[in-house]
Amino acid sequence: MSFRGARYEFRDKSADYASLAIELGSLLAGEADLVANAANMSALLFDALPDINWAGFYFLRASPGTGSTGVGELVVGPFQGKPACVRIPLGKGVCGTAAATRKTIVVPDVHDFPGHIACDAASRSEIVVPLISNTALLGVLDIDSPRVGRFDDQDRVGIEKLAAIFVAGSR
Ligand code: SME
Repeated sequence: MSFRGARYEFRDKSADYASLAIELGSLLAGEADLVANAANMSALLFDALPDINWAGFYFLRASPGTGSTGVGELVVGPFQGKPACVRIPLGKGVCGTAAATRKTIVVPDVHDFPGHIACDAASRSEIVVPLISNTALLGVLDIDSPRVGRFDDQDRVGIEKLAAIFVAGSR
């Protein structure tokens, strides 16, 4: 397979996210493996989205030693960018908060988010989308940017749709 990613200017975010959604659908088509799809999706996003320095996944896993009590934490999955914190407790940082509340969080300036976990000091804004399959929380999709205010509401809508394509096609 030879991948040739389209180049998007993101001047028309709605149109470009729609094209990126089609590209993602083709990339994941015929494969349901969660890790494989997360790896390729991270690569696609890192390649396609301007002004980002990290794109990847944290998956919900049982905390060590908790057996089947249902206590979980986020563990880093496939990503592109600098090496990242491995484990994030639910409710901690932007990722843990998005996972615990099951709501997308857009952070215009990470310095203003109490408890933000700085994996790459260059990150200045961030979006985290929870990944929910039926009612089960799989984890989160996290994208960081070195630019303050990088993600607006159109990015949120576009990235939530991309996350939904991932959830629908991966297990
Ligand atoms: N900033 C995140 C941690 C993950 S890294 O950005 C890759 C947070 O506060 O949860």
